Amino acid sequence: MTRIAVLGSTHMDLVAHAARAPGSGETVTGREFRTIPGGKGANQAVAAARAGGEVTMIGAVGDDLYGALLRDGLDHAGVDTDLLHTAEGPSGTAHIVVDDTGANSIVVIPGANGVVTALGPGEIAAVAAADLLLMQLELPLSAVVEGARAARAQGVRTILTPSPARPLPDELLDHIDLLVPNEHEAAELSGQAEPHAAAQILLRQVPEVIVTLGAKGCLYAARGGEPVLFEAPAVKAVDTTGAGDTFVGTLAVALGEGRPVAESVAWASAAAALCVQKPGASTSMPYRSEIEAV
Ligand code: RIB
Repeated sequence: MTRIAVLGSTHMDLVAHAARAPGSGETVTGREFRTIPGGKGANQAVAAARAGGEVTMIGAVGDDLYGALLRDGLDHAGVDTDLLHTAEGPSGTAHIVVDDTGANSIVVIPGANGVVTALGPGEIAAVAAADLLLMQLELPLSAVVEGARAARAQGVRTILTPSPARPLPDELLDHIDLLVPNEHEAAELSGQAEPHAAAQILLRQVPEVIVTLGAKGCLYAARGGEPVLFEAPAVKAVDTTGAGDTFVGTLAVALGEGRPVAESVAWASAAAALCVQKPGASTSMPYRSEIEAV
């Protein structure tokens, strides 16, 4: 079984469904509201656990009702939450509008995620015991850098989802094995709007890059090799929230099982395609049997 440590965020997603997202200064009437456990870290953890990984979540929830619900959700998914700390104050929340095309816009309030500024001995040991470490950018950067450094020191493979996009220090990128931005994040990090060009720039800093392209699939590029464009299964999306996290969590399990890149990407793309056909993030992530069936 692939052992995966996730160092990342946990949010309660407060999701409004409306025909379209409001513009600045505008009010629109939506049709439905849901609270759904999310956060890029927790989403990747749930996706990896459902895909068959043995997953440990490192992060924090608040001491409010959302915190208890978020922990329960992860426990229920089979994720080890011993290193998911309960901090004083509110849990992180994500305020999401999903429009009729399935696209979303998100405002994140970090809450308890903001207290995760450093790793203790227990967290370092969990990273060292893993086959892969998954990280995103919804925790303070100091913790992400420390996690990446600890993983590299122990020969643990690191995957970074650079979201939300922000300038990244060399001390982080130097310890990343695989970077998985979406096309907007790739453009922001590289200064190149075209994904092939962006990937070539990013390869100067990390050995492997996968630029996810939504319904168009993804672009895989590795140093010294030809880039490969993988198509995604054609499906009708109702909510794309968490699709990128599903892709990464599933990809990590497949890579950890020793599957070749093409097969791992096929698994991850199938999982993401299943995810977008249902509403919500953690609620829409497929189980291994469903991925295998695709
Ligand atoms: O990637 C999707 C996630 O981003 C949501 O679940 C939300 O919590 C935000 O962190």
